[in-house]
Amino acid sequence: MKKIVGHILLGSLTEGLLMRISPEINLEEIKTGKFVSIVGVDHAFFSLITDLTLAVSHPDILLFPPTPQETFLNDILRKKDIYATAQLKPMLMLNKQQQKMPVKTIPAHFSTVYEADSKDVAAIFGNEDDVSKRYFNIGCPLDMNTPVCLDLDKLTERSNGIFGKTGTGKTFLTRLVLAGLIKNDKAVNIIFDMHSEYGLQSRTEGKSQSFVKGLKTLFPGKVAIFSLDPDSTRRRGGMPDVEISLPYQAVQVDDILSLQDELNLHSTALECAYLIAAKYKKDWLQVLLSQGDSLKEFAQELGAHPESIAALFRKLKRIERLPFFKPVAQGAYKDHSVIDQMMEYIAKGTSVIVEFGNFTSTFCYLLVANIITRRIHQEYVDKTEKFLGSQRSEDEPKKLMICIEEAHKFLNPAAARQTIFGIIAREMRKYYVSLLVVDQRPSGIDQEIISQIGTKIVAQLNDEKDIAAVLTGINNAANLRTILASLDTKKQALLLGHAVAMPVVVQTREYDEHFYRAMSTTLTSQQVDVGIKELF
Ligand SMILES: Nc1ncnc2c1ncn2[C@@H]1O[C@H](COP(=O)(O)OP(=O)(O)OP(=O)(O)O)[C@@H](O)[C@H]1O
Ligand SMILES: [Mg+2]
Repeated sequence: MKKIVGHILLGSLTEGLLMRISPEINLEEIKTGKFVSIVGVDHAFFSLITDLTLAVSHPDILLFPPTPQETFLNDILRKKDIYATAQLKPMLMLNKQQQKMPVKTIPAHFSTVYEADSKDVAAIFGNEDDVSKRYFNIGCPLDMNTPVCLDLDKLTERSNGIFGKTGTGKTFLTRLVLAGLIKNDKAVNIIFDMHSEYGLQSRTEGKSQSFVKGLKTLFPGKVAIFSLDPDSTRRRGGMPDVEISLPYQAVQVDDILSLQDELNLHSTALECAYLIAAKYKKDWLQVLLSQGDSLKEFAQELGAHPESIAALFRKLKRIERLPFFKPVAQGAYKDHSVIDQMMEYIAKGTSVIVEFGNFTSTFCYLLVANIITRRIHQEYVDKTEKFLGSQRSEDEPKKLMICIEEAHKFLNPAAARQTIFGIIAREMRKYYVSLLVVDQRPSGIDQEIISQIGTKIVAQLNDEKDIAAVLTGINNAANLRTILASLDTKKQALLLGHAVAMPVVVQTREYDEHFYRAMSTTLTSQQVDVGIKELF
């Protein structure tokens, strides 16, 4: 039997509906973000509770409130005169044939509102046991123990974002999503892992010295670690599959564009970089860095402003301190590199984690992520064009998702216009490449890019600007705003967008032993649950 939570009193399609909460219900059981269904004549309206209010039938009652000892009076009032209401926002309707459709009508007065049950949740969000392997359990609705699934096929059709302030569980959510994509072979991933949290083990807060498994540990055959700092990878008990070394020739002026903010580079310095590249082509950076005392003459030779050249030289000199950059004799550079190796792994369906080890500066992260992504994207453009030409299914590139943390540094309004990440976000995976952006400050991301994001997973955010940014382009965002502001500080998130049929708040799936078991078998977590129960 489904539990009745209340009855509809009033409301409108645009503003949402007002429900009177049944007097039998313990009011404190009803929380914002709770998932309920309103049963109409032809449709069930699935809704989220967005606000709660106390009400009285007549204001005079408030003039003479009963004392707690007056239990009889209290009981009488509770029957008729004092009550609580909830604001509901219908997000989706199901007809009798269980077809999902957008909400275009409203249920009649006094329609009954039930707590949603596991059948409802499965009808809306899909079932992990589905043979298509497209559904992946990401958590449970509030106060329910039944999985809400992301539709992985839809997820990979667009770029996606995971947002939330620091410590809310973004990295854990990202690891969950990536595990789903890898396990079900829905996309190959490149993960730019600034803090070495995705590959091997990673620390978890709370219990001291407690660790969780990384993706390489969970899927040894499907994940490769490319390390910029192999010593660090080895110290943490892993062996990098590939040690990254990059020649200076791999750096193009375009890669420097995204460092403009970070290095405080003036546009005249950038123009100088273009001048050098026009003359020395791929060797431009190596030539620049090899100028010591001869900078003035070098500037003259190029017809550039000496001070701008000097500024560019000073700022890019930092690159020499990164030991994975190796000089190659001028002209001897061939375009065969670590990136080709990466492409080979990707072509085989192996996801790649780029570990930064101890090189955790934003400068290094931006530079390396740009260099790699630009080349990989070019490879994908070529592959896609080849496929469009031949139309043979074996030529079709595998979907690629590129995961970046601190995304606002790549996609702020200035960078988004010029850099490869902006291009990928805007071209809507025309070339089979999309982004998974992880960020604690979504307001720093270019508005246009945010509006292109297909699915958003949003943990707690407090800053008004950040909340407004993640709700850009969403109808009736006001209702979701209160839900976002009232999420727990950890392990709770609002899912919205393309990969979920309706917005929903989840208690994030626990990333623990039970999850590892589900990942290591072909069984779904529900089947593992049943299996475990049968064992005892
Ligand atoms: N799904 C989960 N399963 C188990 N533990 C979790 C989960 N989500 C979050 N946690 C706990 O919350 C802590 C913080 O999560 P996480 O490191 O993902 O936060 P974050 O948002 O990435 O923070 P930062 O912005 O600092 O990178 C973890 O160390 C872990 O203890
Ligand atoms: Mg994190």
